[in-house]
Amino acid sequence: MILPNYSEAKKRTKNVTLREEYNLDDSMKTIGVGKTYFIKTYGCQMNEHDTENLKAMLEEMSFSEADDYKNSDLIILNTCSIRENAHNKAFGMLGRLKHLKEERPDIIVGLCGCMAQEEGVVNRLLEKYKWVNFVFGTHNIHRLPYILDESLKSKHLEIEVYSKEGNIVEGIPVKREHSYKAYVNIMYGCDKFCTYCIVPFTRGKQRSRDKDDIIKEVIELKNNGCMEVTLLGQNVNAYGKDLEIEYGMEDLLRDVALTGIPRVRFMTSHPWDFTDSMIEVISKYDNIMPSIHLPVQSGSSRILKLMGRRYTKEDYLKLFNTIKDKIRNVSISTDIIVGFPGETEEDFQDTLDLVEKCRYDNAFTFIFSKREGTAACRLEDNVDITEKEERLYRLNEMVNKYFLENNKKLIGEVVPVLVEGMASGRKAGLYGYTDTNKLINFDGDESLVGQIVNVKVEEAKTWSLDGKYIG
Ligand code: 5AD
Ligand code: SF4
Repeated sequence: MILPNYSEAKKRTKNVTLREEYNLDDSMKTIGVGKTYFIKTYGCQMNEHDTENLKAMLEEMSFSEADDYKNSDLIILNTCSIRENAHNKAFGMLGRLKHLKEERPDIIVGLCGCMAQEEGVVNRLLEKYKWVNFVFGTHNIHRLPYILDESLKSKHLEIEVYSKEGNIVEGIPVKREHSYKAYVNIMYGCDKFCTYCIVPFTRGKQRSRDKDDIIKEVIELKNNGCMEVTLLGQNVNAYGKDLEIEYGMEDLLRDVALTGIPRVRFMTSHPWDFTDSMIEVISKYDNIMPSIHLPVQSGSSRILKLMGRRYTKEDYLKLFNTIKDKIRNVSISTDIIVGFPGETEEDFQDTLDLVEKCRYDNAFTFIFSKREGTAACRLEDNVDITEKEERLYRLNEMVNKYFLENNKKLIGEVVPVLVEGMASGRKAGLYGYTDTNKLINFDGDESLVGQIVNVKVEEAKTWSLDGKYIG
């Protein structure tokens, strides 16, 4: 049993990250014959992409995917720690699985992802959820076949969570959700330690993938007809800073654009590492999409300081305006937290003022959630929850107003759209995303799915557009 340890997870060493190749022992390849699996994924794109790896590993072991957890032999929860409600959802699901296991004692239940890295969660599992079969963390997803094999043999709760990140493992198989768009990890972990955030504990030290491995993956995707890659990392702008070569995000963006893949996106950016040369590269290459996610978190410089964000409201606005000036047609989205410990009405007014200035195209807004182990967890939180909820409501009213206003500006324009599928709830409708990452619905033939087509915007709503297929 290897249990998580927060003081280990917090440490940062200067060790250079090594690289190793994934390899599945032949003896593992028939373990799942005749058995099905189901993976429930919570949280961010990083987790979604990890699930694509987990699925492929299980299929290499001969498991096949079930369409519902209720008739599956193996159920894995790939969990998220970012806010309390992500925890609650996963524990709620464990409650349902307990009943299922009472009916079908042979089912195997595993838990992985960020929650597995938390000491408190694993202790709770050991106390009250002993019927769970196995737990593994974010640093050893490549060990799934071996952990699963062990737990099938032992019939006891198997826990293998590394607190220190290991090597970067290349060559883990992947079962991609879509053929026309793909996530590509460019780095793992985060060293920023924003005071509210649990990610530096659950995902470990920042480790960049080798640029040649990334480019190779993008070229392979392109050769297989993929139209769009999203370069993924917790803080992609810091790409390369941990490598011993002079090669940063601007170089990577350029080299990925030069592969000729039709669309390149990236997320998430921290304002701190967003350089002028990155802006230059984004504006130079047409296949880098003019859509940037630039989390601000708060408009109050005082709160930003307490959050450990290393920029002021003014710094952020300067960067925001440079991006708007230099990148033609750019759309910018953000993340905002309200109710950080000690946030006053005046601080909150600063956030509203910033939103009024930035008029975001999209924004994800959250109430501060205390995460055990983080620095903000120790701050006195004297803001009443109803006050926090009211601030969130007022903020949402404002951001929604600007989403609609921005969308309305597109009426009459012809926009490029990557067609993603048939819209649910509409009879013959297709949906896709514009270059600026806006959801658009329009009528057209299913054969267009996976292609980039032109659509004329006819109607604007708060969260989507309606348009007409042009060709
Ligand atoms: N409470 C609320 N929101 C948080 N986020 C990260 N940690 C917390 C927390 N403790 C938000 C941030 C981040 C997004 C992914 O989640 O806004 O950008
Ligand atoms: Fe968390 Fe800050 Fe790292 Fe983003 S940059 S993952 S908010 S610590």
